[in-house]
Amino acid sequence: MGTGHFIVLCYCLSSLVTVVSADDPKVNISETDPPVNPVYKMIIQEQDKDAQMICVVENRPVDVEVQWTVQANRGNASLIQIATGTRSYDAFRWAIDKPSPTAWRLRIQNVQPTDEGSYTCKVQVGAQNYVTSVRELRVVQKPQISDLDTSTDMTKNADDPAKLECYANGRPKPLIKWTRMAGELLPNGGTEFQGNVLNINRIESDHAGIYKCTAENSAGMDYREIRVTVNFRPEVYTGTPVARQAIGYTKELVCNIKGYPPPGGNQIAWSRESRPIISGGRYEIRNIPGASNRITSILVVWNVQSSDFGRYQCSAENDKGSRYVTMELQSSSVPTEDRSGSVRGGAPFLSLNLATLFMLATVFLLHHIRFIR
Ligand SMILES: *[C@@H]1O[C@H](CO)[C@@H](O)[C@H](O)[C@H]1NC(C)=O
Ligand SMILES: *[C@@H]1O[C@H](CO)[C@@H](O)[C@H](O)[C@H]1NC(C)=O
Repeated sequence: MGTGHFIVLCYCLSSLVTVVSADDPKVNISETDPPVNPVYKMIIQEQDKDAQMICVVENRPVDVEVQWTVQANRGNASLIQIATGTRSYDAFRWAIDKPSPTAWRLRIQNVQPTDEGSYTCKVQVGAQNYVTSVRELRVVQKPQISDLDTSTDMTKNADDPAKLECYANGRPKPLIKWTRMAGELLPNGGTEFQGNVLNINRIESDHAGIYKCTAENSAGMDYREIRVTVNFRPEVYTGTPVARQAIGYTKELVCNIKGYPPPGGNQIAWSRESRPIISGGRYEIRNIPGASNRITSILVVWNVQSSDFGRYQCSAENDKGSRYVTMELQSSSVPTEDRSGSVRGGAPFLSLNLATLFMLATVFLLHHIRFIR
């Protein structure tokens, strides 16, 4: 073996010793804020917030600096130098400090989608060799509904088309879905629709209500509620198409009304043989507002006379039009019940049912007892 061979062998041995030496630098991005997502194995931070990584370097050769670089995972994907030692190449984006002698902390300020990529902390150990530790950063943004492009409360006429729109920003791109309050069905069927635009070809009275648009992605959700009002001509139907009563007793004729805008008291009318009926005498008209813009109009006929038998008409009107329904009051040989289930006779002041009598008796007794004491 010649001298030359010996030198080569020694060189090989010495480099071998260097590689396995316990004194080799160790580089580890040991801690991050936010912490590494256990599912995606990366740092996921919301846009406009800061992200931090602490790189711990052991056995660093004194003349070798710790470097940070980032490899963007989109665009032209060039390798960008972030810092050498504690010197940042862009103080607006990146700050470096040393929380301990062996730690280099990188703070990525006000993270933007352009900050996404693989961040490397490294120490050079040879001409082309580095000891490295890598962490990937992903930037997300909670959905934010864009009020400029999203529909607001609207009023439509029945049979008109309606278009409800909802748009949102966010990263990843948010999923937009539509639902109605209380799980009501959407006009085109189903309880949920995915997409930016909910089209209603011909809007109906039943489509009125609140529509909720929800934008959702892995970072969060946002929503808007849009109230849809539908104007429509009143619909009228009767609960008493044929009512029977014996002479001398009381009968109620019932008219159910639905319309929007809801017909006012002066837009609900009763008539008999084309003659209008007004409250007074043996007639009383009661308009009772109910849920969902429904109105129940009741015509009470006290002390029914033979002249009262015949056809009655109930009509309701609003600025979309009017409708009417007819019903008939017929004679009966026996007294019949009214809406509350009691049989009432005579004039208004005689209409006492058992419950009322009992109540009056109680009141009387209470007074009487107090008086005796
Ligand atoms: C890096 O640091 C973390 C936290 O201190 C530790 O769990 C992990 O084992 C270290 N990795 C290496 C390669 O030393
Ligand atoms: C590509 O990289 C160069 C140099 O870093 C940079 O000036 C340029 O803006 C980058 N282009 C894109 C599309 O990212």
